[in-house]
Amino acid sequence: MSANIEIAFKDLLNCLQALKMYGGVHPMFTRSLDSAYTAFKDVLSMRQEVVIGIIGEELAFEKEILFDLGKFLRPSILYLKERNIERLAFFFGLSKEELGIFINFISRPKEDFKGDPQEMLRLTGVEHINIGKLKVDDRMQEGDRGAANIDLYVSSVDKVSQALSGVLNSEKIDHLALRFSLNNIMENLSTQRNELLKLATLKRYDVQTYTHMLNVSIFSMYFASRLGFDKNDVLNIGVAAMFHDIGKLSISRKILQKPGKLTEQEFGSVKSHTILGAEIMLQYVDSLGILPVVVSFEHHLKYDASGYPRLPNLRKQHIASSIVSICDVYDALSQRRSYKQDYAPDLVYNIMNSTDGVSFDPQLLDKFFKFVGLWPVGSVVALNDASIALVRDENESDIRRPKVEVVSPVEKRRSIDLAQDNSLSIERFLNPWKEGKEFLHLA
Ligand SMILES: [Fe+2]
Ligand SMILES: [Fe+2]
Repeated sequence: MSANIEIAFKDLLNCLQALKMYGGVHPMFTRSLDSAYTAFKDVLSMRQEVVIGIIGEELAFEKEILFDLGKFLRPSILYLKERNIERLAFFFGLSKEELGIFINFISRPKEDFKGDPQEMLRLTGVEHINIGKLKVDDRMQEGDRGAANIDLYVSSVDKVSQALSGVLNSEKIDHLALRFSLNNIMENLSTQRNELLKLATLKRYDVQTYTHMLNVSIFSMYFASRLGFDKNDVLNIGVAAMFHDIGKLSISRKILQKPGKLTEQEFGSVKSHTILGAEIMLQYVDSLGILPVVVSFEHHLKYDASGYPRLPNLRKQHIASSIVSICDVYDALSQRRSYKQDYAPDLVYNIMNSTDGVSFDPQLLDKFFKFVGLWPVGSVVALNDASIALVRDENESDIRRPKVEVVSPVEKRRSIDLAQDNSLSIERFLNPWKEGKEFLHLA
């Protein structure tokens, strides 16, 4: 399907070129309009609508980002963005006339596109095409990176909650906007990974299911990209991670947050979130692909094939599920919840490594901690000389000895690479809710 969309979109842009070079009555234009129209008609004979999004500098169609096409068409993408067009929807019933008017419309100089392009397009009488912006603001380009990252994180939490409640109410979800958010995060993970991971590891936000879903998604995308998956796979894993616990949202909160031990019946109900989630996500296979179904279903299966749901035949987890299950447990243990204490990072590390070969693939778990470190970036720690330091960067060669910045006492302030200085070591983690609180603003 995406190949047909590519053809239709390329034809559309060729047609725009022909119009600009030869004018609207030249045979070059009418011929290319014919072929663009045929391509769209073909695509729309199989579906009610086709939505193409511009995400960063790439083109996206449903669950795929057409990265290569994006490269090829970059000048045209820029051209559309300059006209406030990041999203194009073509509907069944589109006529050749409308397509022609639309192409004429977008050939206008960018100065004409000051207002809402959809409003302007409507005035031309075109009914079967919608255009506009993706609704997430991209303040990421300018200003203070830290603030921009927080904006990105908060607006992503928004996007996530909208997508999740949409799914719960069986509404159509704006998967392009969701992908746009996640793609923004993914792009920034390569250059701003410490900032973003810090947001996920620092306990700055109220912990609720939505934040958990977003954190697991951020960790999973980071982990998958460090493992070498390509951009599209990373994004698909991020989307699947986002919905891994969707089944939980239909289970009673009372049970989910019960501080004491669960009865067998209650535990049975908690376990059912895997199957419930897979059933919900089955309704979104067309737009989000099959991975969210697989990951919802499998994320509590263990490496040794135990776990739940109980299956008649032993089944190895899909790699996406293995990635998500590590990030899921990591986030659940690290975050403070109403019904449990948060754990220090070294305790999280020990707990996760204590079930050697049972819960997680040991090699994969090893890599995970290599990438996120034992003491996450932004942690407040006490060193063995009684000074207080902030973790600034990981050392993959020794996860126990990151790069730190001593912040107290003031006269000892300096940056130290603990991998290079054996006289110093981290003694303990300072809880950011308690004794670490006063240093948190420096992180
Ligand atoms: Fe779960
Ligand atoms: Fe979870």
